[in-house]
Amino acid sequence: MNKLKNKISRRQFLQAAGASAAALLLASCSGNSASSVSSSSVASSEAASSAAASSEATSTVTTTGKTLVVYFSATGTTQGVAQTIADTVGADLFEVVPSDPYTSDDLNWTNNDSRVSREHNDEGLRAVALESTDVDGWDDYDTVFIGYPIWWGIAAWPMSSFVAVNDFTGKTVIPFCTSTSSGIGQSGELLAELAGTGSWLDGQRFSRSSSEADIASWVNGLNL
Ligand SMILES: Cc1cc2nc3c(=O)[nH]c(=O)nc-3n(C[C@H](O)[C@H](O)[C@H](O)COP(=O)(O)O)c2cc1C
Repeated sequence: MNKLKNKISRRQFLQAAGASAAALLLASCSGNSASSVSSSSVASSEAASSAAASSEATSTVTTTGKTLVVYFSATGTTQGVAQTIADTVGADLFEVVPSDPYTSDDLNWTNNDSRVSREHNDEGLRAVALESTDVDGWDDYDTVFIGYPIWWGIAAWPMSSFVAVNDFTGKTVIPFCTSTSSGIGQSGELLAELAGTGSWLDGQRFSRSSSEADIASWVNGLNL
């Protein structure tokens, strides 16, 4: 995984977002679709970091005020973690929903021509349009959790579409992710760079088997 390849500036991302919105429009007008089958591997190179991830240090922060949990989840795992975090701290939830939701065929990373594979191979395709990036009462939130699945070692890019267009000034931002085996890696730092604002803490990675108690224990350790 070449992390540098995934490092793009907020300006580059927004440019790509514009180009991709235009492409989306063209594609929807012409009814384009494509699929063929080949294979590739996703998580193998990331497995080594999983052991470190499970023991990643929790961050400590003392914050009062309103808390929001923003999440993107393609298959429900991150959604479950987001819900537990929200229940634990009494936070509001905001789901990041792509305008063109990912089907299971879209998510088939073993198919080199699937939607996610094409987006992974071409950064210009990653700026997916979202149903909404506007959170009611955004300015009132002091603390924002940002949750996403790991895709090829980085944050699933629909979350980038949210982060790039929101102003995190004055907010404490806490990333969390779910994955099969990868650690959170640089995913939080890359989102922080894209946002350009906010005070971003080290995040935490969870797996499908993380218990509500594990999640609550991490959240309570943040001393929000
Ligand atoms: C396109 C794609 C790429 C993935 N890449 C990785 C990866 O690099 N490392 C990993 O451990 N898991 C990877 N996964 C697995 C997901 O991170 C994991 O299943 C996650 O918990 C799914 O969250 P969700 O149910 O909220 O979408 C990938 C899954 C998909 C669909």
